[in-house]
Amino acid sequence: MSENEAKHGRRGFIRIAGTAALRLALAGLPCVLRAAAPGKLRIGVIGSGRVGGTIGELWVKAGHEVMFSSLDIEHDRKLAAGIGSGARAGTPKEAAAFGEVLFFAVPYAALPGLGRDLAAEIKGKIVLDASNPIPGRDGDMAKAALASGTGVVSPQFLPGARIVRAYNEVGYARMRDDAHRAGERLGIPLAADDAQALKTAVRLVRDAGHEPVVVGGLARAREFDYGTPVFGRPLTAAELRNALGLKP
Ligand SMILES: NC(=O)c1ccc[n+]([C@@H]2O[C@H](COP(=O)([O-])OP(=O)(O)OC[C@H]3O[C@@H](n4cnc5c(N)ncnc54)[C@H](OP(=O)(O)O)[C@@H]3O)[C@@H](O)[C@H]2O)c1
Repeated sequence: MSENEAKHGRRGFIRIAGTAALRLALAGLPCVLRAAAPGKLRIGVIGSGRVGGTIGELWVKAGHEVMFSSLDIEHDRKLAAGIGSGARAGTPKEAAAFGEVLFFAVPYAALPGLGRDLAAEIKGKIVLDASNPIPGRDGDMAKAALASGTGVVSPQFLPGARIVRAYNEVGYARMRDDAHRAGERLGIPLAADDAQALKTAVRLVRDAGHEPVVVGGLARAREFDYGTPVFGRPLTAAELRNALGLKP
């Protein structure tokens, strides 16, 4: 074993031992203090606006560690401080490096540049992509993306990422206000080609308090793109399945 490996091994042991001690200490406290710690994920949010801020906060509340990033680090520091333990702020590069899972919630026109700037960090990572092409905001590139379908175009902008289209079709206020609601939950359509990435997205949608609806491979993401009949409609999972012609 090299010195470096030994050092990392020791650090790893100290970290694990520290975590175990913390868990033991927390075990004696009322469970309302902390939600699901086991299996928590490190998530990097790229674009901590309405959607990124909302979903990132729901994931922190579910026990995950989230780094928020945007073009305005001061905004992200305040956001993270307001959310509290489990939330932190960084640059997009830092957030992309921090997260084992990444959540992109930026104007679609920002995706190509981010894909180039963060190429090394996003390679091989699970990326939940909420970004929508809106022609009135993103211009001609949005029209082209809608013509091909976002499930085909986003992977071209974020090469090497294991993309799941997620949190695209419903407004952020419903995502926030209907999280963990009683009765049938808000349905969130998902499309992915990577089975493991899809599994992680399913879990994260449930952790945020919504109900995942797996539509199919990335090519089928166009069925809930901007301009489709389901876009902008807060539907239950059953209603979404029905509207998209999926098996109940
Ligand atoms: N609003 C909704 O209800 C909704 C629902 C589903 C999907 N979407 C889609 O999700 C995406 C985000 O929507 P939103 O409503 O959350 O927008 P928003 O509130 O304007 O937030 C966008 C975020 O992206 C950041 N950003 C922009 N360019 C960036 C870049 N080059 N690098 C890093 N961060 C960048 C912004 O940072 P600064 O503030 O510092 O510029 C901001 O934090 C859009 O594509 C939208 O169409 C929106």
